[in-house]
Amino acid sequence: MTKPVIVIGGGGHARVVMDALRRRGVSMLGICDPALPQGSAGPFGIAVLGDDEAVAAYAPAQVDLVNGVGSTQSTQARRHVFETFSRRGYRFAAVVHPAAIVADDVTLDEGAQIMAGAIIQSGTAVGRDAIVNTGARVDHDCRIGDHVHIAPGATLSGGVVVGDGTHIGVAAAVIQSVKLGRNCLIGAGAVVTRDVPDETRLVTPASRTLPERTGG
Ligand SMILES: CC(C)(COP(=O)(O)OP(=O)(O)OC[C@H]1O[C@@H](n2cnc3c(N)ncnc32)[C@H](O)[C@@H]1OP(=O)(O)O)[C@@H](O)C(=O)NCCC(=O)NCCS
Repeated sequence: MTKPVIVIGGGGHARVVMDALRRRGVSMLGICDPALPQGSAGPFGIAVLGDDEAVAAYAPAQVDLVNGVGSTQSTQARRHVFETFSRRGYRFAAVVHPAAIVADDVTLDEGAQIMAGAIIQSGTAVGRDAIVNTGARVDHDCRIGDHVHIAPGATLSGGVVVGDGTHIGVAAAVIQSVKLGRNCLIGAGAVVTRDVPDETRLVTPASRTLPERTGG
């Protein structure tokens, strides 16, 4: 990453990403967030440039952008930021916290964000603008789509496929080789054992009992 960056958003996810950028020694020109007073010092003392339109003062050749918008269930707002500025010719920098563990053959697309304590194993591909958040674990040979958010502490076993725009809630677990569709919501703590169609919202009941074991 050689260009300085502008962070879009100044809320909680933005601060997590900004901390990773600082630790990587990336120069931040400023933050765009309409909720913060223009000209003030924002998180980590970084200047608030104004709302998102303040980006226009910098040409795409001068800066990269970093998406500071997170998600708690729908990934739509984050996707909107990425697509709006991509259409205007801006590029989003990928961010990997220095305390993340990412196998050498993992591929990260434009704007992917890998936060502190995340582990991504061999053969996995992470799509554009996707987040593998704090302490999340993605095992070998997974395919993570664009704009996916794997929330803190979630675990994906090997060979899991996640469709574009899906949010996997905090501490959810997905067993090996499951395919999750596009724009799904997997609730916090859910355990996913079967393929999930597009646009599905899932939570796990803690009330289900299993039949008696017959052997083993
Ligand atoms: C699933 C989720 C999106 C539901 O949110 P919501 O639509 O606002 O739903 P509510 O909180 O009104 O809950 C509706 C019902 O679902 C239940 N429920 C909510 N989340 C649940 C979950 N994760 N597992 C099981 N049940 C859940 C609630 O207890 C409630 O049950 P009730 O109707 O019997 O009282 C949310 O609880 C969740 O898990 N979000 C993920 C958060 C996350 O990943 N954050 C990461 C930020 S970095």
